[in-house]
Amino acid sequence: MARLSDEFISEVLDKTDIIDVIGEKVALSKKGKSYFGLCPFHNEKTASFSVEPERKIYNCFSCGEKGNVVTFLQKTNNISFIEAIEDLAIRANITKDFSGFKKANPNKKLFEINEAANTLYKLFLSSTKSGIEAKTYLVSRGISNDIIKHFELGLASNEFDLLHKTLTNQGYLVSDLHDLGLVKKSKNERFYDLFRERIIFPIKNEQGNTLAFSGRTYKGKDESAKYINSPQTKVFTKSNVLYNMHNAVNEIKKNDRVVLFEGYMDVIAAYKAGVKEAVASMGTSLTKDQVKLMKKYTNNIIICYDGDAAGFEATARAVIMFEQEKMNVKIITLPNKLDPDDYIQKYGNSALLDYINNKWIDPLEFEYKKSNMKIDFSKMLDIEHFKKTIFDMIKNASNTVIEAYIKRLAEDTKLSIESIRQDFNQYTKRNISNVRNVYRNKVDVQDKYTYAERRLVNYFLDNRKYLFNYNKEFGDIFHINENVRQLKDIVEDLYLENETKEMDTVEIYNSFIEKLTEAQNDFFSNRCINKDLQLIPKEYDDLIDTINEYQFTLIVARMEQQIKEAPTLQEKIKLAQYRDLKIKEEKYGQR
Ligand code: UTP
Ligand code: MN
Repeated sequence: MARLSDEFISEVLDKTDIIDVIGEKVALSKKGKSYFGLCPFHNEKTASFSVEPERKIYNCFSCGEKGNVVTFLQKTNNISFIEAIEDLAIRANITKDFSGFKKANPNKKLFEINEAANTLYKLFLSSTKSGIEAKTYLVSRGISNDIIKHFELGLASNEFDLLHKTLTNQGYLVSDLHDLGLVKKSKNERFYDLFRERIIFPIKNEQGNTLAFSGRTYKGKDESAKYINSPQTKVFTKSNVLYNMHNAVNEIKKNDRVVLFEGYMDVIAAYKAGVKEAVASMGTSLTKDQVKLMKKYTNNIIICYDGDAAGFEATARAVIMFEQEKMNVKIITLPNKLDPDDYIQKYGNSALLDYINNKWIDPLEFEYKKSNMKIDFSKMLDIEHFKKTIFDMIKNASNTVIEAYIKRLAEDTKLSIESIRQDFNQYTKRNISNVRNVYRNKVDVQDKYTYAERRLVNYFLDNRKYLFNYNKEFGDIFHINENVRQLKDIVEDLYLENETKEMDTVEIYNSFIEKLTEAQNDFFSNRCINKDLQLIPKEYDDLIDTINEYQFTLIVARMEQQIKEAPTLQEKIKLAQYRDLKIKEEKYGQR
């Protein structure tokens, strides 16, 4: 493959006005020597994208993208260097044959034929009598002329071989049409069109080459499949293509997320709602190739499948695939079995947008919802099974998450938080109170809590039942003060050593004092003993409440940390709402 000479490239660049080229995609306004506009490489509301005609460069002060007119075309059109130069040469009226400089594309001819077919389909929709009828259908589904143009929708006529006739008249080989699945051969050796009397959706690759088509019935009386698709061909393998990737690619990069739908109509609905980073897996199970295709452009995925049972199952399978690729998954579960398109028809564009931006749930929540749907809460076996499913799901999660789900489980199953927590510990051999302790240093110690801990030592010394109760609820570690923790350990050892022996309070007290070091004794007699106060169960309960409250401050602190670390504002808001909800539950909820 030959290389373009530097002189030629310079000539092309000299004859190119960077403002003209970039101005086609970005509305630019002049300020001094530079031009400014909204950056096409990221989402922004104030213009930080500048183009300098003198130096022939562009630069975004906000996201850092910079380059010249060639890189601009390469990036925004997803084309190669040579293709960008060719584009610029054509604009500058420089004639040159580029074929020797580009990798020969063996599929070029086939793409050209598909393009010719698409042109015919589009023309047929825009300028025929049947087109008017088909448009009435499209309008009834909220699809305007602008949308028809954007998605390059077309129409196949009801004549059995219009496409075949037209394209062969244009000089294309019938064998190629056949290879592309555009025509089929009947028993009596006549060629007829695959798509007849259907609205046509072109399916393209990322570069915008037309690979295949899908055709939808629109007359209602038809008993054949709702959609028929091009068969697998040299240029089309359904399993590694995503519908609308071509239009979405730059938007995906710009928004650093992709929204995945099931169907064509859903992608169109999303477009109406302003979500342009939308693609569809075209009804079949998501494939690894499709996942990889998305991962090329972003790590953040929002799955927005239909709200019916099939959509739910398909979502569950898709989540696993994305997680295998370590992608961040958010899930939309639309209500009332609606698909995104129905949802918009019913509730409007902004309602869908709200779902996508704010009402997503994470995979854990999705899993919870999914298991929850299947269980009959009046059946103990169901509840047991449900609990285990959720335990498995959360066992490696952070303590915040574990706490949250234990509470939810308690609510849904109408069991006590305590019994669920015990079951969890038993099931996973994990003591969540212990692990939670990790966060203790991050939280400001408050006096009330240390006092409660110190005071509890008196109760532990008074009767072993207090100590055992405490351990049952919180695990065997004190959370705040190291000195208090040591004292508690000593009392505990004492009870263990004398497990079978009945001891009265004085005996316990004396043995305890004996075991203390001087420093411990100092701490104990100065800070723990409060002779003015009698030991009563009511006070013990209050102290336990205080410790509980402290535990909750740890959870909230952990949530604050997560909010701080969340990468996007949306996630911050979502987490903050979750935190507020938990605080509200803690305040007013049942404990
Ligand atoms: P849907 O039945 O959800 O279709 O199938 P849709 O996109 O919402 O279209 P409308 O609203 O009914 O008009 C989802 C996707 O599954 C594929 C298509 O890609 C469709 O968009 N499909 C569906 C087929 O390929 N063939 C079919 O017969 C049906
Ligand atoms: Mn639909």
